[in-house]
Amino acid sequence: MAIEREALEHQLRQAQKMEGIGRVTGGIAHDFNNLLTVMLANIALIEGQLPPGNAEIRQDLGALAAAAQRGAELVHKLLSFSRREHLSMQPVKLSAVVEGWVPALRRMLPETIQLTAELGDDGAVVLCDRGAVEQILLNLATNARDAMSGGGGFLRFGSERVFLNERYRETHPWAAVGAYTALSVTDTGIGMDKNTLQHALEPFFTTKPVGVGTGLGLSMVYGLMKQHGGLVQLYSEPYKGTVVRLYFPVHQGAASSEVAPTLTTGLDRLRGSETILLVEDEPAIRSAGSRLLATQGYKVLTAEDGVSALRVLAERGSEVHLIVTDVVMPLLGGPELLDAVRAMGLETDFLFTSGYVGRDLQETGELPSDEAFLRKPWTVEEFLGAVREVLNKPRRGPALA
Ligand SMILES: Nc1ncnc2c1ncn2[C@@H]1O[C@H](COP(=O)(O)OP(=O)(O)OP(=O)(O)O)[C@@H](O)[C@H]1O
Ligand SMILES: [Mg+2]
Repeated sequence: MAIEREALEHQLRQAQKMEGIGRVTGGIAHDFNNLLTVMLANIALIEGQLPPGNAEIRQDLGALAAAAQRGAELVHKLLSFSRREHLSMQPVKLSAVVEGWVPALRRMLPETIQLTAELGDDGAVVLCDRGAVEQILLNLATNARDAMSGGGGFLRFGSERVFLNERYRETHPWAAVGAYTALSVTDTGIGMDKNTLQHALEPFFTTKPVGVGTGLGLSMVYGLMKQHGGLVQLYSEPYKGTVVRLYFPVHQGAASSEVAPTLTTGLDRLRGSETILLVEDEPAIRSAGSRLLATQGYKVLTAEDGVSALRVLAERGSEVHLIVTDVVMPLLGGPELLDAVRAMGLETDFLFTSGYVGRDLQETGELPSDEAFLRKPWTVEEFLGAVREVLNKPRRGPALA
């Protein structure tokens, strides 16, 4: 009895520790968002203005962009761990997501590693964010690759239907009773000793040399799985390979038929001639964003907060097809701006963008869940892609045109 209580207390402390670390890392990550957004956007702008030639400058810019991109990836991982990632959940067949991602993973892995996917539970529909699941697979495949760097091996994806019952909850009290599809990722690599296994999910725990691993991959997987109402289990022994099992709750319903493409191609596809009002209080982001849109052919109006946006709309509201707005701003934030615009009788489309992300905002009811959302820092493709996606949806506005 005493041992059982001790074990439960240990688990509780462990959970509290993870929550605490999550709060701290989430806060830091958020502050880096705006900085990186400005950097990435300006790099793209400089590149666009360079006259032909200038190979050396282009190369330097490339290095700069790669570093900023790496920074953005780190921030993204930290936000996923602290569960501040904005996810858009859709009912999809998990097997379709996994199989769709296999070719990309194959390209990433060296030829000495053989990748196979045999998904037994291939009919399982889960409520998930496709991009998040792809991130999870990418992280696990990267870990497997590192574990098999010695001389190749096998990486296998499998899946099966399992039912987690009351009995299972005795040892995993945070799991809900019900049907899950367990996606397993198995490698034949170096495996983990007890200590590594115990700490592997914690942020910044890594056994890799400085510069190789940041120790955030599995933390991200952990955070994302929790956000999906699921679980992660690791099974490993030294030199016996590793199995990572991801439990996704099975969704009772059909998969949505539209499969969102996640890979963007060239920027040319992302041009347009509509009028966009960009509302953003950070001057550097406002200027970079409006110039990016203008170079793609859009007509751009800008405002530094919700109040001045309303002033612009009072005059030219009927011309505006889309309002891209920050969520948190000193004078009238994004959600309040939406209310005010609807009160004016305008049905203009909205795209919200923020570094404070989904869960926090949606929980406090600040962010309308049915409006499009883009997280910061965005890359140029993400920004232009999100704009195009909203504009391509069946038209809502301008209402008075
Ligand atoms: N498939 C695996 N085989 C063996 N060890 C693993 C495997 N996956 C994770 N580990 C161990 O767990 C540690 C933490 O993994 P995690 O993915 O969180 O960070 P990382 O891979 O070290 O760095 P990052 O993912 O941030 O680049 C690794 O350093 C490694 O020791
Ligand atoms: Mg990793």
